[in-house]
Amino acid sequence: MSKYTATLIDNETGEKIELDILHPTQGPRAIDVTRLYRQTGILTYDPGFMSTASCWSDITYLDGEEGLLEYRGYPIQELAEQGSYMETCYLLLNGELPNAEQLEEFSGQIVHHTMLHEQIKRFYSGFRRDAHPMATMVGVVGALSAFYHEYMDIHDEKNRYETAILLIAKMPTIAAWSYRYANGVPFMYPDNKLGYAENFLHMMFALPSEEYTVDPLMARALEVILITHADHEQNASTSTVRLAGSSEVNPFAAISAGIASLWGPAHGGANEAVVRMLMEIRDSGKPLEYFVDKAKDKSNKFRLMGFGHRVYKNYDPRAKILRELCHKIIDKSPLASEHKVLLDIAMELEGVALEDEYFISRKLYPNVDFYSGIILLSMGIPMNMFTVMFAMARTVGWVAHWHEMMGDDKTRIARPRQLYTGKTHRDYVLVDMR
Ligand code: MLT
Repeated sequence: MSKYTATLIDNETGEKIELDILHPTQGPRAIDVTRLYRQTGILTYDPGFMSTASCWSDITYLDGEEGLLEYRGYPIQELAEQGSYMETCYLLLNGELPNAEQLEEFSGQIVHHTMLHEQIKRFYSGFRRDAHPMATMVGVVGALSAFYHEYMDIHDEKNRYETAILLIAKMPTIAAWSYRYANGVPFMYPDNKLGYAENFLHMMFALPSEEYTVDPLMARALEVILITHADHEQNASTSTVRLAGSSEVNPFAAISAGIASLWGPAHGGANEAVVRMLMEIRDSGKPLEYFVDKAKDKSNKFRLMGFGHRVYKNYDPRAKILRELCHKIIDKSPLASEHKVLLDIAMELEGVALEDEYFISRKLYPNVDFYSGIILLSMGIPMNMFTVMFAMARTVGWVAHWHEMMGDDKTRIARPRQLYTGKTHRDYVLVDMR
């Protein structure tokens, strides 16, 4: 029993119900309605989980009003400026930053698992060359359950941790191969002398016939992209992984479901949509105000992509980090002048929107997707790979949440209820009588 309770008075029946108020270490309190239905026969209604906490979690904290994001208590800015993606993965999975020895051991474990079973290659050739790489990724990651699940006990903490390592390690190979297959270019095997980000760039861009050296600036840019996208508490794809995982399905199937959820333009697919919008603005020759007005017009379907967030009512801290990074790398891009135009439009659009009463009153600030696409483009990553990059980065968040959920004795199979709006009972009528 919690120290504090809230009293719900049912004005229809006069019944009074005491509900516990739950206190997390940070963030809003919650009313515990778990026993509400059993005690009263009343459900709660909250489409889209606008006011619902679905679990307890120690992993990531975000304060939408303040624009604050912390992984296990560490601010995202500090991790992005000073940390590495490997440290971030260790932190998210284990709860603490690794010391030098732990980091070396962890990175070694990841490196050990970067290869894919040789037969997995054949899955790629089953896809059309023009398949979206996210479609390929959903399929290939789901197929991992046919290769690596048999001897794994999802109720065993050690087994789950090993699965997490395996998934983080294999994701860059799966992602890069989706791109290589679509382009008819031979797959590059991982080079385990390279770091995580370098290895991905090598598998994306190297050719077996040529020398390829990873540009350290691009590798660092990718590290920052990976760190800033690594976790974001109970977003749609993470909730999908938890929901799918709650039936005790194997983790590869659950992560594949998460990738599918991330793909949508309302979630991870937004980074691609932002760049398409910036290109549309550039090619139209129309002033920015025209697009801003269009976005404000409710009868028009056009929306400013990359603005606003369900939780942030302030500047998304990740967008600030990525805006800076954009400036650092844009001139190094092979198509610098072309990409610079997009960055200029983005900056100008941000300026116009942040001064406009419509956006101010609705607290619509740039989110993580607003600048990430321009960075990826500057790195030579094609647009249809943007969400794949997001999926690669978010894999650690998904597996960390899955691992946490499976070890939580409060976990139950996710089974929401509904408010039925259909017909009430009626009797079957024979077909020739209808
Ligand atoms: C994310 O990083 O997952 C997105 O910002 C979406 C979200 O948190 O709802």
